[in-house]
Amino acid sequence: MTTFSIDPQDTIATIRPELHGQFIEFLGSCISDGLWVGPDSPIPNIEGIRTGVVEALAELQPPVVRWPGGCYADTYHWRDGIGPRNTRPVTFNENFGTFETDDHAFGTEEFMRLCHLIGAEPWLNINLLSGTVAEMRDWMEYCNRDRGTALAQERAHNDSPEPYDVRYWGVGNEAWAGGGFMTPSAYADEYRRFASAMPSFKSGLTDSDRLYRIACGPDGNKPMERRRWTQDLLEALSNFRQPSIDALDLHFYNWNIEDPQDTPTSFSREGWDRVIHGALEIEDVIHEQRDLIDEGLTRMPEPESPMDTRLKALDLVVGEWGNWHRSAFTERPALFQQVTMRDAITTALTLDVFHRNADVVKMACVAQTVNVLNSLILTDGPATILTPNYDVFMMYKAHRGATALRVEASEPDPDIHVFASATGSRITVNLVNASMTEPNTVELTLPTGARATSHEVLETTHPQNCNTAEDPDRVRRTDAPLPIVTEGAARIEVSPASIRVLSFTR
Ligand code: AHR
Repeated sequence: MTTFSIDPQDTIATIRPELHGQFIEFLGSCISDGLWVGPDSPIPNIEGIRTGVVEALAELQPPVVRWPGGCYADTYHWRDGIGPRNTRPVTFNENFGTFETDDHAFGTEEFMRLCHLIGAEPWLNINLLSGTVAEMRDWMEYCNRDRGTALAQERAHNDSPEPYDVRYWGVGNEAWAGGGFMTPSAYADEYRRFASAMPSFKSGLTDSDRLYRIACGPDGNKPMERRRWTQDLLEALSNFRQPSIDALDLHFYNWNIEDPQDTPTSFSREGWDRVIHGALEIEDVIHEQRDLIDEGLTRMPEPESPMDTRLKALDLVVGEWGNWHRSAFTERPALFQQVTMRDAITTALTLDVFHRNADVVKMACVAQTVNVLNSLILTDGPATILTPNYDVFMMYKAHRGATALRVEASEPDPDIHVFASATGSRITVNLVNASMTEPNTVELTLPTGARATSHEVLETTHPQNCNTAEDPDRVRRTDAPLPIVTEGAARIEVSPASIRVLSFTR
């Protein structure tokens, strides 16, 4: 039995709610037929957005949603998606085997409505590859300018007199692959052009700028290339004056593509272990990247004049993460994956990596929210199905804004993962048993006077179980008995492949 000591004084950093971000893209049925059904659909909807999705996300309250891509963003022209829907052009989307026409029914206005309905901040990713600086600038003006310019009036006419006040702007996507197969220095040159044309939306000379500009970080799955990308990009930024830049966007997928027999819902013990271990690799990657960014920042030259500024800080964000199983490549709709307890465990472990590295990563978006890869929600005709990943995000909501704690283990067990946070007198503990087959017993030592106030568990009889239209609640979180805390210690029996969240008050 492993004992985990939880001390609310042993703090790491505040857990930014933005670590629980979401990502949606026009791929497969994420948007078309997934979250967007259109106002004339017999499927219940709120102004065209599927009611089941809106209700689920409104309860989850994701802090941020990234859109329109992904790769799709680098061929997206924002003007195609504004104004009356019957006048919008039809284009063709080949991204990731989608191979479908795109009627642009879900554009800027619809995305902003979604964000408003679910209480999320928008992250817009601009088209660096096939778009222009002028196009980016116009989109920003259309979204954020509050005064009577032609673009502000156009927004008011189409949708909203009030500016959308979009804060997060990504500049291109995966510039090292589908975003242009660029070298870091070529991307840095492009970034400089785009970033320097961004309006500031300040209303006075002394106001601070609320924009958060996100540059392409590396492919987290390529150990050599990802180091070079970040080193060379920082080097290119240090070669001359630095443009405004707030963050680098690292992408990390947990690839599960080696074994043709392994599918999202049919896997062996070996396949289970491979996916669990693969997910945990992200922790080393974020540390490596943070170190490379910090090293690069030390090389920024001192400005020659007090009028110039030196780049001193650069955040690390993870704009895309999640399991990517082999079958997603051939699936129709494109990139659709079922979600079992294996995915729920890696989702929990990844969020816990971000939680305990709240000082390293500032924002993270799971790929993707609906019907694509590591989804929280699946749709099947009129049915909206919440996956076990949705339950993990719901259970973990309690950590948003809390302080991450360092947890000490008496003798580490590779299957048992514990994370804890504190806020006021509450301590919230995540307890994941990542073994596919073995139960375990865990002891938590807690501050004097602590008592359990809630205990939720996500577990199922078979790790391959998943939720479907026919059986939507097969894997669902439930309340479990409260453990008794005796002399500052609580002993908890954990079933195999299970996720628990316990709250204690002092
Ligand atoms: O999430 C699916 C795709 O994966 C995104 O479009 C792209 O950015 C990444 O390669």
